[in-house]
Formats: sequence, structure tokens, C-alpha cells
Amino acid sequence: MSKQENTAFYGKNIFNTGFDFDIEIRLGAGAFVCGEETALLESIEGKRGQPRLKPPYPAESGLWGKPTLINNVETYANIAQIILKGSEWYSSIGTENSKGTKVFALGGNVNNIGLVEVPMGTTLREIVYDIGGGIPNGREFKAAQTGGPSGGCIPKEHLDTPIDYESLKEIGSMMGSRRTYCYG
Ligand SMILES: Cc1cc2nc3c(=O)[nH]c(=O)nc-3n(C[C@H](O)[C@H](O)[C@H](O)COP(=O)(O)O)c2cc1C
Repeated sequence: MSKQENTAFYGKNIFNTGFDFDIEIRLGAGAFVCGEETALLESIEGKRGQPRLKPPYPAESGLWGKPTLINNVETYANIAQIILKGSEWYSSIGTENSKGTKVFALGGNVNNIGLVEVPMGTTLREIVYDIGGGIPNGREFKAAQTGGPSGGCIPKEHLDTPIDYESLKEIGSMMGSRRTYCYG
């Protein structure tokens, strides 16, 4: 039987190449540890969400023991732009060691909440005041939490720290799940 005609990016026989690209969305049980990629694989396989020993890494042996790419949608979204515009273009955005942009979910005591995409190296002050519009009722900034439970609280004296992987680690926080929660 001949393969079904397909000129779309997903489904059976994409662009009539013979390659099937199916998407199935699964809802996890909500455990924090299932954000760790191998615990997430265990959970998708219907087992208790516990991290696996590494190596082997998922790229070698992942879901159902097969080579697996397991990243955030944001990471995959960068790939198309890098292929279209080139690695030099991508590397020109951001800092020496943290390239490109980063999407943050800005929430808490800040005037403009929501998802913001900024070049790596943007300061916390720019995120909270220029994009977030500052703290409601003219209150003073106290701290921002980044990185979720694995991260930390960044106090006022670090408002001018560039937000990148290295700087956040140096001040005891991390990029993590990219939720920046402001306290004021
Ligand atoms: C206990 C634990 C929890 C984690 N939770 C998350 C999470 O909620 N979201 C996330 O993106 N990465 C989380 N990670 C990091 C992932 O293991 C992995 O580094 C990340 O998903 C890589 O994706 P990326 O390259 O697209 O950023 C967690 C790691 C650990 C050890």
C-alpha cells in the first residue's frame, strides 16, 4: 500500500519523505523530581519518577531504551533559528559563555507579569523595572527568586547582576525552571 500523501511538518510520511513524525502529549503526575530528565523518562514509562544512573545518557539510551532527545520546548525552538540564521548570529546574542536569549516567567509583586524573552546577560534590574514596570504601589524591591526549589533568592544588592548561567550560580541561585518571582 502506498504511503499517505503529506506535505505537513507532522503526522505520517512528512513531506512525503517516508518519515513519520507523531506528537503525543502526556500529563505528568506533578512531582518536582520529574523535571530531571531521566526521572521524567521513568515516569513516561509508567514507573516511579526516580532519576536513572548516568551514563548511559538519554541520547544513547532513553525512553524505552532508545536514543532520546529530552529538552525544553524553548531549547528546540532555538534550533530552527540557529539553522536559518547561523551559529554566529546566535552567538552574537548574550554573554561570553551564555549565548542567545532566555524566556522567563515573571511573577509575584511586579506590575507587569508574564513571559519575557531577553538576551542572556540582561540584568535583574532591567527585568524587574524596565520590563516588569517595577513593584506595585511604589514599594521597594526586596528579592527575586529564580530557579525554583533548586535555586535561590536574589536580594537587592545583586539587582545589577547580569542574568546568565555563571553569574546566577556565583550568587547562589540558578536559571532552573526559569520562573522569576519578585518580592517587594
Ligand atoms: C531535581 C531536579 C529537578 C529538575 N527540574 C527541572 C524542571 O522543572 N525544568 C527544567 O527545565 N529542568 C529541570 N531540571 C534539569 C533537567 O535535568 C535538564 O537539565 C533540563 O531539562 C535540560 O533541558 P534544556 O537543555 O532544554 O534546558 C531538573 C534537574 C533536577 C536534578
